[in-house]
This record gives sequence, structure tokens and C-alpha cells, in this order.
Amino acid sequence: MPNEGSYEVAQRRSDAIRADLPENPGNYTMLTGDRPTGRLHLGHYFGTLKGRVELQNMGVRTNVLIADYQVITDRDTTDHIQDNVYNMVMDYLACGIDPDKTMIYTHSAVPAANQLMLPFLSLVSEAELQRNPTVKAEMEASGHELTGLLLTYPVHQACDILFCKGNVVPVGRDQLPHIELTRLIARKFNNRYGKVFPEVDALLSDTPLLPGLDGRKMSKSYGNAISISMTPEETAKRIKKSQTDGERMITFDPENRPGVSGLLSTAAICTGRDPREIADEIGMGGSGALKKYTTEAVNNRFAEIRERRHAYENDLDYVKEVLHEGNRRANEIANATLAEVREAMGMVY
Ligand code: TRP
Repeated sequence: MPNEGSYEVAQRRSDAIRADLPENPGNYTMLTGDRPTGRLHLGHYFGTLKGRVELQNMGVRTNVLIADYQVITDRDTTDHIQDNVYNMVMDYLACGIDPDKTMIYTHSAVPAANQLMLPFLSLVSEAELQRNPTVKAEMEASGHELTGLLLTYPVHQACDILFCKGNVVPVGRDQLPHIELTRLIARKFNNRYGKVFPEVDALLSDTPLLPGLDGRKMSKSYGNAISISMTPEETAKRIKKSQTDGERMITFDPENRPGVSGLLSTAAICTGRDPREIADEIGMGGSGALKKYTTEAVNNRFAEIRERRHAYENDLDYVKEVLHEGNRRANEIANATLAEVREAMGMVY
């Protein structure tokens, strides 16, 4: 499991891949995904969605998973799941994911991919599962006991990546333990039964994490996130309600002024400007001027995306069709991989 040393190794490998991607896009299959627990927000957009679209347009084989089975790793309800899934497809399409180039699919619609779980589980020990720091953190945050699914979902994530022979996975640092486990599973499977699976690497984001409006990690549950799907008015309201501080002079100081700096970071990423330059410009204008500037920055940056999203909201049939076609393709790929796996294991009757 990763420590600082293996983090550095992962970063180096990621940098090397990033340099090679534009040269040899055909050598790469990307898979990544999201849990359909709500609307995607600006943190998702700048942290990963934008990068996925770039890989897609570079000619990398790109696959995006709506990880519906992961919803029940740390919560005990699937309420709103259908609505969340369709809305996630809308967010993807609006942000530039092109279903002719990128396969969009859901866990639950691809039985053969899920079946990889059985041989894969045999390749990991209980101790390896127990020491995954991300699983531990998620269990503590959920307030639930450790379920069998939460304990083993990193193995399921290996199924996600390996069923389509993904070899690059854009993820945040918290997901590195899962990539490490995927590498281990692939290596063990190949050694035991013959080479079926590729070597997988994380593709770490090279843009710094966009904080939420209060300076903490952007998260729907903190109420500090701006969703891609918000209207300009909802955006204005969310920004207006954000906490700044009593100091009139605007400065960029994430440590001591998380609220002001969260707004500046948001305005900066949306305009492509430096947050310090925006702070200097606003100066004694205070948080009122800062909020106005930030609201306009977000609403301008997302105007086109939101317009597209609006069109998809009014065409649910198309959204469903995109998902059905993605699921159909995913089943084809999963069936072929499972056939290879069974062949390698001698389970052909
Ligand atoms: N665990 C990821 C998240 O919480 C979602 C995910 C599921 C994923 N399967 C994946 C990411 C495979 C990368 C690869 O956001």
C-alpha cells in the first residue's frame, strides 16, 4: 500500500505518461468514473471532467463509468439513483464528453464485468484489504460499520479498470491505494493464469485542487460547492451566502482567509487569471465586489455548458439512448474479457 515513496513513484510514472499521451494516444485506454450521489460540481469539472475531454479529443480510448454499485459502499439507500444517473450523463455531455468517442456506462448493467470480482477476490488477502487507508477513512466518515462491500470495493474498482483493459486512470491522490491494488491483482492474475491484463497507472491531475467556497474541500455535503447544473441565479445565491470575513481589503491568503481565498480561487480558475491579480484589482472593494466578480466569472465560464445541459434536460430520451448504447458496448467488451479470463483459468466447458 502506498506510502510517501510509492506516491512519488506514482507521480513520476504519471508525469511520464502525460508527456507520452499526445505522442502515442493509441497506446492508452482510459477508465475513470464517478459515484452517482448528486450533481457534479466545479471541483469535478476542473479536477477531472475537463481532462477527460482532452484525452478523448487526443484520440485515447476513453471510458467513463457511472459507479452505481459504489453508491451503496457507505450508504444504505439507492434513493434517487435513476435521477442521479441520468443527470450525470447530462453533466458529462454538457461538459464535452462525446458519446461517439467515449463509452459511458453503469456498473449494474454489465454483469460480466461484475463477475470478474470472483477470481479477483481470490488474489487478495484480508490483510491487504484491511490496510487500505481510503477504505478506513470512508468507513469513519460514513459512521456505518465496515460492510463487506466497503471492504472489497477496491477489488471491484479493479474489475472496473481491468474489464476494458484500462491502463491509465485519472484519479486524485486518495484513490492511489486502489490503483496499487489493481496493479497487484493484474500482476497476480497474469502470473497465475497467463497474461490477460495490462499494467495500470494513475494519471494524477496537474492542476491544484479547487477548494470550496469556504476554503475546505469542495463537497456537496459541506454546502460549499457550485454545481455545473445550477442556474446563474442559484450560483449568485450560493456565492452570496458564502462566509468571508470582516476585513475589507481583499487579499489572497488561503491559510488565514479561507472564505475570501476560496472565492478568489474560483474566480481565477474560471477566468484563467491569477488569484492575486484579482485580489489586487478588487482591493478595497470588499467582499461584495469580490462576490459579484466571482459570480460573473462562474456564470460566464459555464454559460455555454449550461445551455447545452439545458437542451439535454429537455431530451431525456436521448440521454437514455446514450447510456443504453454505452452499456451495450460495455457488455460486449466485458463478455470478451470474461471469456479470456475463463479460458486462461481453464473454465471452458
Ligand atoms: N471511486 C471513485 C470515486 O469515488 C469512482 C470510481 C469507481 C472509479 N470506479 C472507478 C474511479 C474506477 C476510477 C476508476 O469517485
